Order: sequence, then structure tokens, then C-alpha cells
Amino acid sequence: MRPINKLSTKSLIDSSKLTLDDINSIFCLAQYYKSNSHQKFDFHKNKVASLLFFEPSTRTKSSFELAAKKLGITTLSLDTSNSSIKKGESFIDTVETYIELETDCFIIRHQLSGACDFISKNTSSIFINAGDGKHDHPTQGLLDAFTLKEIFPDLSKVNITIIGDISQSRVARTNLNILSILGANISILAPSTLYPMHVDFKNINVYKSINEAVENSNVIMCLRLQNERMDSNALPSTSEFYKYYGLKESHLIQYPDLLFMHPGPTNYGVELDIKLKNHKNSLIRKQVNNGLYIRMAVLDLLLSNLS
Ligand code: CP
Repeated sequence: MRPINKLSTKSLIDSSKLTLDDINSIFCLAQYYKSNSHQKFDFHKNKVASLLFFEPSTRTKSSFELAAKKLGITTLSLDTSNSSIKKGESFIDTVETYIELETDCFIIRHQLSGACDFISKNTSSIFINAGDGKHDHPTQGLLDAFTLKEIFPDLSKVNITIIGDISQSRVARTNLNILSILGANISILAPSTLYPMHVDFKNINVYKSINEAVENSNVIMCLRLQNERMDSNALPSTSEFYKYYGLKESHLIQYPDLLFMHPGPTNYGVELDIKLKNHKNSLIRKQVNNGLYIRMAVLDLLLSNLS
């Protein structure tokens, strides 16, 4: 029997609202689905999930869609480039249209921070935030932590450093939330123009250089430069960013046990060396694969809360 525990939340919008029990329940069910990866399950065959992605996505959208199909859920996927949004339909009217199509669960990516929370008010549907502006991307943080816990069951013994565009990154913010709940030792390294003014630094160590970061870390988490959200003056050039903040093959030669992650999409030659693409210490492809099981677990737990 699959391990189903009630979550403390009806929707998954803000990772800081998750409890340790919620995270453990999601991980336990994700592990069940990973161990039974060749099976198809029909637990929610009368349910409808609508994927409304107002920003581009490859990993999140495809893995949510596959996760839903593996659970027997019918999916509706809005093609924003060819929808009535092009004729002036609003975000609210778009969501209301899908409510009338009997959507049980919305999976929403939007360029505005708070969009998913805003639209979730006053409806009985479930909402999953698939990334909103600079704010949050809960399933990315969950899949990152799940990937780490497969290697390090006790995260309190692990030093993880997040490097790069921390101020614009919803992935950084989500990982700071979830890894803190799990008790990991977290550090950051960022250029001063991409420094996270919003972060409470109480339990977060700040490094001054990439050499200091790699020397003291078990895991480096690289981040994509969020050019679509960045002030054009934030960086003199990407080559300078790579010089001072990029993870390079020489770091892995010096520290052969150092693991590294990236939420994707990756820009080789900017956040990390192209020579690291298929490196044995890369967790990047594992992150993508685990995203499927985390999203199956999240969908199953939230929809089971409904029944
Ligand atoms: N990590 C992530 O959210 O990737 P996508 O933008 O491809 O979904």
C-alpha cells in the first residue's frame, strides 16, 4: 500500500509554510513511486489537472504532466502563445474558464510573484505553484532536497553552498526555506549586485569567493542567471561572472568528492564549465528524474486530501 499522510496544507504555494512532517510525507511517497517506477496508477482517474504556464518551462511542465498521467489524472495544458490571452483575456478569466471545465487541481507558473496565491483565494480548487516570479518554486526545492537526502540521509551533516543570482532566484529562496526546515548547513556566494537583501542571514553563512566555497562545501548548487528579471546593469558581463562565480573542472580536480547541482536550464560557460556536463559528481540529471516522483507524490497527497 502506498504511504499516504494528510498534508497540513490544501494547496502548495509557499514552501515556507511546509512542515517537517509534510516534507517527510512527500519524500516517503516519492520514494514509493520511484521504487515502483514502471507501474501506472489509477488513484485519481476522475480528476482533472490544468497546467497553466505563463512562463516557459521544459522540466516542470513535462514532469507534472507525466506525473499526472501516471496517476490516471486527465490533464489540460494551456498553450499561452495560442490562447485567448492573445485576444486580451485576463489571468483571472483564464483560470475561471478552467474552473468551469471542472479542474480539481491547477498547476500554475507565472512571471509575477504572488500570482498563484492571489488566484487561489475564494476557489475550492487545489493550486500548485510551479514558479512565481522571484518568489517560490516549491516542487523544485523538494526535488533538490530529496536528491540530496538520497546521498546524505542526515542533512545536518552536509554543507551546501548556493552560488550565483540569489536575489532574483525563486529556486534559491525555496531551497533556503526547505533545506533550513531539514536542518542543512547552508551558505551562499553571490556578486554584490545579485545579493539577496530579503534573506534573514541568521543561519546562513556567506562566502567571499568561489575558492572558499568549494573548499568548505560538500555540495555546490549553481543557479541560472535570471536575465528576464535582472536589472541590465547588475553584471558587467557573463564572462566575468563565470570567471569569479562559475564552477570549473579545476575545482573538481582539487576536491574530487565535491558534488554539484543545477535546477536547469543550465548555461554552460556561465554558471559552470562545459567540461562538467557529464561529470560523475553532477546531480543534474538525477534532479530531473526525481522531479517526476516528487510531483507524483505532491499531486497524489493534495488530491487525496480532497477525498
Ligand atoms: N528548473 C525548472 O523550473 O526548469 P524549467 O523552467 O524547465 O521548468
